[in-house]
Amino acid sequence: MRLDGKVAVITGGGSGIGAATARAFTREGARVVLADIDADAGGRVAAELRAGGATIDFLHADAADPAEIDRVVGFAVGEHGGLDILHNNHVGFEAGRIGDLTLDGFRRSLDIGLVSYWYATKVALGPMLAAGRGSIVNTASVSGLAGDFGLGAYNVLKAGVVNLSRVTGIEYARKGIRCNAVCPGPIGTPPIDRLRERAPQTWEDIRDAIPMGRYGRPEEIAAVVLFLASDEAAFVTGTHVVADGGLWAHSGMPPLGGLGPDF
Ligand SMILES: NC(=O)c1ccc[n+]([C@@H]2O[C@H](COP(=O)([O-])OP(=O)(O)OC[C@H]3O[C@@H](n4cnc5c(N)ncnc54)[C@H](O)[C@@H]3O)[C@@H](O)[C@H]2O)c1
Repeated sequence: MRLDGKVAVITGGGSGIGAATARAFTREGARVVLADIDADAGGRVAAELRAGGATIDFLHADAADPAEIDRVVGFAVGEHGGLDILHNNHVGFEAGRIGDLTLDGFRRSLDIGLVSYWYATKVALGPMLAAGRGSIVNTASVSGLAGDFGLGAYNVLKAGVVNLSRVTGIEYARKGIRCNAVCPGPIGTPPIDRLRERAPQTWEDIRDAIPMGRYGRPEEIAAVVLFLASDEAAFVTGTHVVADGGLWAHSGMPPLGGLGPDF
């Protein structure tokens, strides 16, 4: 098994990509501590996996609260004797164009989606440095590599996550600790399901903008996280892996028809 005996913390593991990653990690032999602000969702995922024989604990925790991160990492170390993998994955942000965002909303978005990733990294580095090994995988987004209309705070915080992963990667490269980001494109998780209900045309437009012509599945991102977390990625650090059905490869230009060879 690819994560045999490893201890992993996953934030935002009660749904979508985090839940799929919890499934992948436990399937590959990891002992998982799953943290989520939604007690029902996190409890359900942990109970389902435990019933299947996995070693998994759920902690009801707000990952944006430093004291809660201390508690989650402390639990993993106290219960399992160390921490091998941190998967920062939760998010929360204010939507809106740059000029419409509120000061509180923008600050809060960075706090939840970026400052908390840094803080969890800082705390996890303690046991990882003590053991001389560790892998941190941050969920960024293609929205951290380019801009979207109406997602300014999200674009900024995810760009921060990409560069946090680079800096952490280089600073701890000689200490046995790797850090990378995964950059998903649009994935069929509950927020996207809600978008489909509220704005079906937008949901279709996004799907059609993806060169593969479909949304990604949470398991397809979990597979990338699993690779980055595992020893198979032993020489991979400070970088990001894009998994987006080709979305980021497109310049944004519409198909160029009717130009002729002499254009
Ligand atoms: N779904 C997509 O299209 C997509 C694309 C690119 C990146 N992402 C990123 O993937 C990650 C997971 O997104 P998802 O689509 O699986 O969302 P999701 O809503 O299905 O899952 C997110 C989970 O995080 C939890 N959470 C939120 N705030 C929290 C907090 N403060 N502390 C602890 N838990 C908290 C939620 O309760 C939820 O269970 C996010 O970082 C998101 O930005 C998603």
